[in-house]
Amino acid sequence: MPDDNSPLIRTDIPHSARIWNYWMGGKDYYEVDRLAGDAAIEIDPDITTMAVQSRQFLIRAVRHLAGEQGIRQFLDIGTGLPTMQNTHEVAQTVAPECKIVYVDNDPLVLTHAQALLTSTTPNGTTTYIDADYHDPEQIIEDARKILNFDEPIGVMFMGVLGHAKTYDDLLRIVRTVMDSVPSGSFLVMWDSTDDNPAHVAMCENYTGTGGTPYLPRPQAQIEAVFDGLEMVEPGFVSITQWRPAHAEVGEVRPINAYGAVARKS
Ligand SMILES: C[S@@+](CC[C@H](N)C(=O)[O-])C[C@H]1O[C@@H](n2cnc3c(N)ncnc32)[C@H](O)[C@@H]1O
Repeated sequence: MPDDNSPLIRTDIPHSARIWNYWMGGKDYYEVDRLAGDAAIEIDPDITTMAVQSRQFLIRAVRHLAGEQGIRQFLDIGTGLPTMQNTHEVAQTVAPECKIVYVDNDPLVLTHAQALLTSTTPNGTTTYIDADYHDPEQIIEDARKILNFDEPIGVMFMGVLGHAKTYDDLLRIVRTVMDSVPSGSFLVMWDSTDDNPAHVAMCENYTGTGGTPYLPRPQAQIEAVFDGLEMVEPGFVSITQWRPAHAEVGEVRPINAYGAVARKS
């Protein structure tokens, strides 16, 4: 944990990015986050599986976009704290020239991002924007300074849209960003669904701790975020079942986290 003196970094209230890091097996969290994370596991024991599996989905989806689809620009909104295999590491392993713009609104993510999520190699670039996704126009304006919006972009919302204040906001945010990118761009998105009562109860309990509320939504609402886009195979599925690695075949069980990778035509 870095020595964070910023008055913006609240160590008395649990925070989603830090709890997520705890569940994923990272080390960038405070005691308040560990306690909230453990309380959540008591209510929803599958939550650590979701955190770990979400990173595996990110890795497979980014590899697919940089590999099979030839995407060289990524806009990863709601980045989270750097952990193993971040978007830029996965994409730039496939193609070093990839440009990645990360966006988050958490001061601790900002501190880490300045150290770990920004770099320029002779070819590729990794940059961080400190912004709230409820203002997608600002994100687009800032991202235009780094990314070429005449070339396809892989837009990513990975386990973040439950923080959107309303479903209308959620749709407006994603559509505004997708409207700004050219055809041949992709949306990669997953979110947790409300079909597991233990998960819903855990999110309600988290809201009671003072953290930014996370609202799991019906599967159909999450799937509808992809309306107008062409999903690549296997479509909208539990993230464990999206092109599982060969070794996982036969063992993957669905979890209440659903998503897809879809192309803008
Ligand atoms: C559950 S974590 C997911 C992190 C990461 N996408 C991943 O897949 O590991 C949610 C992230 O969304 C960020 N976030 C929440 N509300 C946000 C907002 N309004 N604007 C930008 N980022 C936000 C949090 O700070 C946190 O880093």
